[in-house]
Amino acid sequence: MNDDVEKILVSEQELSSIAHRLGEQITRDFEGKRLLVVGVLKGSIYFLTDLSRYIDLPCKLDFIQASSYYDGTESTGEIMIVKDIQEKDLSEFDVLLVEDILDTGNTLKYIKDMLEKRKPRSISIVTLLDKPARRVAEVSADYVGVDVPNEFVVGYGLDYNQYYRNLPYIGVLRREVYEGK
Ligand code: IMP
Ligand code: MG
Repeated sequence: MNDDVEKILVSEQELSSIAHRLGEQITRDFEGKRLLVVGVLKGSIYFLTDLSRYIDLPCKLDFIQASSYYDGTESTGEIMIVKDIQEKDLSEFDVLLVEDILDTGNTLKYIKDMLEKRKPRSISIVTLLDKPARRVAEVSADYVGVDVPNEFVVGYGLDYNQYYRNLPYIGVLRREVYEGK
């Protein structure tokens, strides 16, 4: 285990079974629909690649990137779109937003409202991790991998200061790494 990680919250095996379970559920729920799977960069990339291989439907994949201003490990709630998806008219699609973690919800609320204006048939949200205790914005996920406590986590796409994304598990980052520097 990485020395900066205090404990493993979600193991490699658990991550794999989450992708499997949610992929199969999404396959059943979206049968016969035109699915546009949109990964929220950068945190969702590992989850999206695992999850999408269990979605047994014709679908397009795209990415969107929002940037929220950070004050240490806390988002300020101010958001802007850094990279948009290719499709401007979404009227033929059921959109599935793929997120790494739903924290305050500010980022996903912003993205969802923006895409809503392009009139998709529907927008659903799948998030690997949910921190419901931290929710501020009015947004919730349709599919959740697992709820996590209010601790700062890294790995499997999630970063601190752009590091730790490549850890194969989700772990709690030691406080000393980001506090009292
Ligand atoms: P929100 O807008 O507060 O919901 O935050 C969304 C983004 O903040 C997530 O997509 C993550 O990229 C990041 N984030 C929130 N909590 C954590 C965490 O515990 N570890 C790493 N990134 C996090
Ligand atoms: Mg993210």
